[in-house]
Amino acid sequence: MTALRLRSPLSSTLLATALLSLAGGACAQDKLKVGFMLPYTGTYAALGVAIENGFRQYVDEQGGKLGGRAVEYVKVDDESDPSKAADNANKLVKRDNVDVMVGTVHSGVAMAMAKVAKDNNTLLIVPNAGADAITGPLCAPNIFRSSFSNWQTGFAMGKVAAERKIKTAATITWKYAAGDESVRGFKEGFEAGGGKVVKEMNLPFPNVEFQALLTEVSSIKPDAVYTFFAGGGAVKFVKDWSAAGLGNSVKLIGSGFLTDGTLEAQGDAAKGLLTTLHYADDLTNPKDKAFRLQYAKTYKLQPDVYAVQGYDAAQLLGAGMVAVKGDVKNRDGLVKAMESAKIDSPRGPFTLSKAHNPVQDFYLREVTGKVNKNVGIAVKGLADPARGCKA
Ligand code: PHB
Repeated sequence: MTALRLRSPLSSTLLATALLSLAGGACAQDKLKVGFMLPYTGTYAALGVAIENGFRQYVDEQGGKLGGRAVEYVKVDDESDPSKAADNANKLVKRDNVDVMVGTVHSGVAMAMAKVAKDNNTLLIVPNAGADAITGPLCAPNIFRSSFSNWQTGFAMGKVAAERKIKTAATITWKYAAGDESVRGFKEGFEAGGGKVVKEMNLPFPNVEFQALLTEVSSIKPDAVYTFFAGGGAVKFVKDWSAAGLGNSVKLIGSGFLTDGTLEAQGDAAKGLLTTLHYADDLTNPKDKAFRLQYAKTYKLQPDVYAVQGYDAAQLLGAGMVAVKGDVKNRDGLVKAMESAKIDSPRGPFTLSKAHNPVQDFYLREVTGKVNKNVGIAVKGLADPARGCKA
């Protein structure tokens, strides 16, 4: 009888071995643990949601797996608060034991995440925050970015503004790394082309009391004002600008975050605004068409640049996971494959620089109806200078 035979010492050993190997098999199939550290509240909340949506969309398109490993998620709301960032990142790394951190939107929070990632040798993919330091002095083999550097977006607009014969510009932004660096990039591109930044104005993040600054603009009367604002703050700024009636005498320009994912809320106030970004709403490549269709179907929302960056963070991780056949512990193999990946992005194909930042085209966009319309390439194949990256 089978039952009797199983009780013999030899059969028990065989059974135990079989069970152990089954357990071993299950272990090899453990889920890949992705830790989202994103803003789900505050002025950047919609941006965090779009990044998560985009990431999930790519994974879902792969049947819920990357490199053969099913993906599971844990989430932390970082509130775009740098003072909580190290604790939040440490929770993901030490409590949740994630295989990879994906985050975040805010540059100050992302820099703290990069430090935690470095200290613990945890893989980090930044799906938005442009802090120049992340692919500059903080660059490391385990840190990647699927988005842009703040310098890149500002530089592209500075170059276009000079080409369009704008002579003087003032700048208005939030006083933190993203605003400061975006303005610095703008100034570099603009002044190299013969323009002059005549006044730099700012306010603390995430304040939206713009009135005093707009009054100052009307007394300085520059040809243009360059801005970095995003999310809820960008909606308010564009509406306040329009209400101030500066529209005709001073040209408002910006990095594309000013009008990305915000057009429904900004309405007519955004009409005609010129911005530069590595995405536009009417690109014609087949990847973007398929991406936008699927995104709208799944989330009942139009995608934006943040959704694209989330999608591409998953593509980048996927390229690594496929190369190591799901063995996320094979860090060298994973990093090598991610470094050399050619990402077929909805924004157009891109590769990574040595510092792990996208080398990509920047589009000049004009708000037309409810879309950021591509009106030409502002800079082709723009690479961040990666100042201070020694890795
Ligand atoms: C940033 O903090 O780096 C940042 C935030 C929002 C954006 C772009 C950059 O839309």
